[in-house]
Amino acid sequence: MDNDNGVTTMDLSQEKHFSEGHPESLGCSLCGADVPGFAVGMIGGGRCCESCYLDCCKGDTGALDQAYQDFAEALAAALDLREHETGQHSKRVACHTLVLARRFISEPASLLQVYWGALLHDVGKIGIPDSLLLKQGPLDEDDWALMRGHPESGRRILAAMPAFDAAAQVVLCHEERYDGSGYPAGSHGH
Ligand SMILES: [Fe+2]
Repeated sequence: MDNDNGVTTMDLSQEKHFSEGHPESLGCSLCGADVPGFAVGMIGGGRCCESCYLDCCKGDTGALDQAYQDFAEALAAALDLREHETGQHSKRVACHTLVLARRFISEPASLLQVYWGALLHDVGKIGIPDSLLLKQGPLDEDDWALMRGHPESGRRILAAMPAFDAAAQVVLCHEERYDGSGYPAGSHGH
């Protein structure tokens, strides 16, 4: 399937089925890795780990789309590394976002944008100095003034690539809160 940018998108409507998996098993039905008590993904009746769930959701993509996905995941992994994360933080956020988004969105191209937006939600932190990014303890007012700029920085980074158009909006809004206490716009509700 192609979106308006001519990018071949993943088909998230086609879940793979794995009949060998047992829901009560503590192992991923695909790779056998330990799965925590809550099942991130239940595919064909078998629980699976985050990595396998994401792989299944992504499905079979075209070469151009795969290049975008590889780029997005490499960028997210680089950011995780800078924040001294294990490299799974961004994928974990993307995985859980996808679980929720699939309950409300069925259009594969839109889900792909949500996935990319979630994966790269903090890409704007690339402009935050280490002294702040890795700071232990609470942030002061000057710190917050800088930190509140990271959604807009992230939007600008992704806006340079038309294929990430809607994902850029996800990045811009990811720190907003339903009660209006978020940033940068302090939007209420949706
Ligand atoms: Fe953020």
